[in-house]
Parts: sequence; C-alpha cells; structure tokens
Amino acid sequence: MFAGHSERYSKIKNDPILHPDLLLELCAWEYDTVAFYERPWLHNLQQWYTGQRAYGPWTTHGALKKYLGAWYKYSANRERSYPHHLSHAAAGFQTSPFDRAIVVVIDAIGEFDTISIYAAEYMDGQAQYRKLWGQRYPHSIGLFYSAMTARVGLRPMEEEYILMGMAAYGKNTGASLIKSAIIDNEWNLTFNQNLHAGIDSEFLGNMSDMDIATSTQAFTENLIYNVMRRAKNFGFSSNLIYMGGVALNCLANRNLGDYFKNVWIMPNPGDAGSSLGAAALAYGKKINFKHAYLGHSIGGNYPVNSLLDSLLHDKITGVASGRAEFGPRALGNRSLLADPRGSDIKDRVNKIKRRQQFRPFAPVILAEYADEYFDMPSGWSDTSYMQVVARCRYPDQFPAIVHADGTSRIQTVVKGTDSGIRELLEKWYVVTGCPMLLNTSLNIRGEPMVNDRADADRFEQEYGVRVWS
Ligand SMILES: [Fe+2]
Repeated sequence: MFAGHSERYSKIKNDPILHPDLLLELCAWEYDTVAFYERPWLHNLQQWYTGQRAYGPWTTHGALKKYLGAWYKYSANRERSYPHHLSHAAAGFQTSPFDRAIVVVIDAIGEFDTISIYAAEYMDGQAQYRKLWGQRYPHSIGLFYSAMTARVGLRPMEEEYILMGMAAYGKNTGASLIKSAIIDNEWNLTFNQNLHAGIDSEFLGNMSDMDIATSTQAFTENLIYNVMRRAKNFGFSSNLIYMGGVALNCLANRNLGDYFKNVWIMPNPGDAGSSLGAAALAYGKKINFKHAYLGHSIGGNYPVNSLLDSLLHDKITGVASGRAEFGPRALGNRSLLADPRGSDIKDRVNKIKRRQQFRPFAPVILAEYADEYFDMPSGWSDTSYMQVVARCRYPDQFPAIVHADGTSRIQTVVKGTDSGIRELLEKWYVVTGCPMLLNTSLNIRGEPMVNDRADADRFEQEYGVRVWS
C-alpha cells in the first residue's frame, strides 16, 4: 500500500530518525503489528562494543515500543523486531518472483553480521530462511569500501557511489598491496585489521585517487564474487537474491549472471528497504510486489505532452508526478529528464546538479530497444531499477549517458509500467526516433529527492528548470 523514506519528509539526507509525525500516510491507518528492522538491544550492544554513540531512542525493545507507540495507534499492541540481516533477506526474497532462492546479504555492519548466505523457500505459503554461512564484524566488505571512500577524501557511508564512478578512470595497480596489507583470507573473507574507524591515511600513499578507486573497486569485486561462488556451491538454487548496501554497487552487479541463472535485487536493497523486510517477516507470506512507486502521491495525470514539448525545445525538463519511488533511484516520477544525444547535455545537467564533471548520467529506455543499444548483462530478467551497468553499443552518439569505461547504469521500461514515463518514452521515440532519455534524480543539492509539490516548487526557483506535475 505504501513505502516511504523518513528523509523525504524531514528533508534531512540519510536521516536515521523515524518521523511518524511527518509520515502522515502511515498515521492514517490502524495496525495490527509494527515491525522494526533490527534487534534494538543487539544494535545497542554493537554500538557500545564498537565505541559509537547510540543515535536512536530505541536502545531496548521496551524503549522502541514506547517510541513507536507514541505515534502509532496500532490496536493489538503487537510490535516485533527482527535481526538486521534477516530483514534484508526478507525484503529481497518475499518481493522476488522466486519461490526458492539463495539469499546473499552484504553490507557494512548490521548488528554484528557483515555477510550472510541463506537458503529461502516457502513452506505452506510461509517464507522460511535457513542460514548457511555468515561472516561477522570486523570482517566486512562494506567497511573496507567505506574506509577507502574516506581514504580519497569522500564521506564514508554516503559517497561510496562517487568512488565507484572514479573507478573508470584509474589503473588497478594496488591489488597486491591491498591484499598483503588488509586481507587475512580472501576465501573466508577475513581481514587482518578493523577498518571501522577508517584506514591509515598514508595507505597507498604513492597512488592517485583514481588509481585507488580502480584498485578498490576491482578488489571489492573479487571479494563479492568469492561470496557468490560460495553461495552457488551450496547448490540450493540457481536463483539469487542479493541485498544489503553493497548490492547498490551496480558495476559489480554486472557479473552476477556468471554465478546464478536469475538475479533479483529489491529496488531498495540498503537499510531503508529493510523496513519492508521487517514487515514482510511479520506478514510471513509472499508480497505482491509489482513496482517501486510506493511513496507520497502527487495527483493528476502524468504530464506527457508538457514534458515532450519541453524536451523538444529546451532539451532538459523536470517531472514530479504520481507516487514517489521507494529506493535511492528516481525512476521517472521524481526525475530530471534530458535528451541524451549531443555533446553539451552532460555539462548542462551537471551544472544544474552541481556535481563532479566526471560523473555520468543514466539512461531510461523502452525495454524492447535495450538490446539494440546496450550489451545487456546475463541473469537479469528485470532491469527496471538502475541496478546494473550495461555496455552501450553507440557511446559516441550518447556521450551524456555513457561512463568513461563505456558502460551505462540502465533503466528499462516495459509496457504496463506503473509510471507515465513509459508513455513519454513512446511519444519521444515517435517524434525523434530515439528510444531513450537521460534520467537523473530531482533533488536540490544536499537534500533528499523531491517528495511533494512544495519541494518541486523550491527546485524550480533554485535552478530555473520547470518541474511538471
Ligand atoms: Fe544493513
């Protein structure tokens, strides 16, 4: 019925605090159960153990219950909290098209778990999870990637995607140094130092930031694929569910088809999406998950003709229409759209977004033309969510949406998609013969994605780009 992000209501990016008083959609209903995505006492113990300060008022189950109960008028007095990695797993499995799958969860740290492999299946309609293997703090692929993000001067736990973008520009000259300095056992995923507080600022000191990024990405991919090999070796299923913050690495995701026949990553694989996983665990059954347009609704028809006109005349336009996307990507309902052809578009959109010039934008394309324009990755039956890169066959024609390594983070749109972006692409294709647009999220710099019409109005004022509703 609804899934949303606290940050889109408080307007504080990555806001860790729940705002039930702001998420009015949630307060409109009565509940029989409230589900939380980690064990409060275990999380608190982890924070104490790792020397962090607790950030929430839910340090114990009782406190969580009191905190939630202050806002939610759930009637049956049922509240549940679930293990963090299990919440990730359920968010993936119970939204997936599979009845049986291997679930891999990789994140920085959740309670004490860092990597988990589960066997998941339905028995009498109820989802069952059996843990097959796991790795625990401080051995963590996510913490390694975050430490390297900080090493090049970016914000850890936030700007990992920028490090990934930089990886296209450097050379992989640091792999053996990383291996000897940090890794204890590559197959068992054990590290010989705790990277939670970062890594020595002198580490790889003679290398450029771009080379560090390339080496980090390549090394991380090796570690991820080791986990995938191990998961595959259990022989439980050729279906893969992959969740956790590391599953946002769309570059590493391109090779998952080498290990599994079918891949599903829920469009919100990070911690925010685990809210859905906790709810799924409380529900127990398969969820009828059709799309990610589950958030705040801006009413009215999708402004197809206005957008088409703007694109033809100005080449860049904004849209805030229908329900907001659940997950980190704008998929056409809160998007800045542009003509992907021509050499000046990337600079023009970058100027609006005020971000690093080296970073590319993503294409959104009519699904039936995807193979014609891109070398699509194997194993992905659903590429609707900008989760994986594909090599563009005509990089010279579309410089704005192709990265320096020749890949694009693709979003395909099938017929029947629950967003007007499909109709817009169809009409755009009829007029221009081009089946794709550039699509980037609509957000004011430093703020979360535009949520309501008031946000869209502020965007228009700030950047002088019309946002149609
Ligand atoms: Fe997590």
